[in-house]
Amino acid sequence: MTNEPDPASVTLPAEFFQRTDPNPDPQFYGEPRYVTHIDDATIEALTALYAELIPPGSDVLDLMSSWVSHLPTNIEYGRVAGLGMNEQELATNPQLADYVVHDLNERPELPYLDASFDFVINAVSVQYLTQPAAVFASIGRVLRPGVISIVAFSHRMFPTKAIAVWQQLSRDDRARLVASYHVLADGFDDPIFIDRSPEGADPLWAVIARRRDEPTLS
Ligand SMILES: C[S@@+](CC[C@H](N)C(=O)[O-])C[C@H]1O[C@@H](n2cnc3c(N)ncnc32)[C@H](O)[C@@H]1O
Repeated sequence: MTNEPDPASVTLPAEFFQRTDPNPDPQFYGEPRYVTHIDDATIEALTALYAELIPPGSDVLDLMSSWVSHLPTNIEYGRVAGLGMNEQELATNPQLADYVVHDLNERPELPYLDASFDFVINAVSVQYLTQPAAVFASIGRVLRPGVISIVAFSHRMFPTKAIAVWQQLSRDDRARLVASYHVLADGFDDPIFIDRSPEGADPLWAVIARRRDEPTLS
């Protein structure tokens, strides 16, 4: 027995998740943007991280996906599914076997069966989630036991759509915030933080957490 609060009973303050643009996300993401959101060298570092961590044959969910997933092209994965906001971007993404247009701020529950994936990846997008605790609980549900969530982030953002707290935090505190999403979801081992920033390009940071094999005993 400890005096630690049950993570499921902890809620982050609502003001963390306010945004300058409170309009529904489909308005903002209605038009496709065939751009990249980090420098080429940073994309290379992200692809190298995926190559290192995600074995061939894995079933991968690319959460908050677009026309690019940054997965290595020389590795054969199992199913690569994408979830994002823009149909045209997702339809153009050559790495996706299937995709769904789904607003996580409207419906944080992921539209996938339990234990469907070996990896959930989320690239440079976590700052747009307004209900992250519910989304990460659902990530825990769709991941198979013992497998991995990788949340990569950098310093660029759409400021009107990023949550208020993200804009106030240092890099280390952003990492702590993303780690806390996993902890509050209560289905993950302690997250780790890594820095894979290339020299002279946008930084690349990642929070990586392993879905627990067994529920925690209190
Ligand atoms: C900065 S882009 C990053 C896209 C891609 N992951 C990449 O690495 O280039 C942000 C992405 O988050 C997705 N997104 C934003 N708000 C979302 C929401 N409410 N629900 C689901 N996806 C969302 C958008 O569709 C967009 O593709």
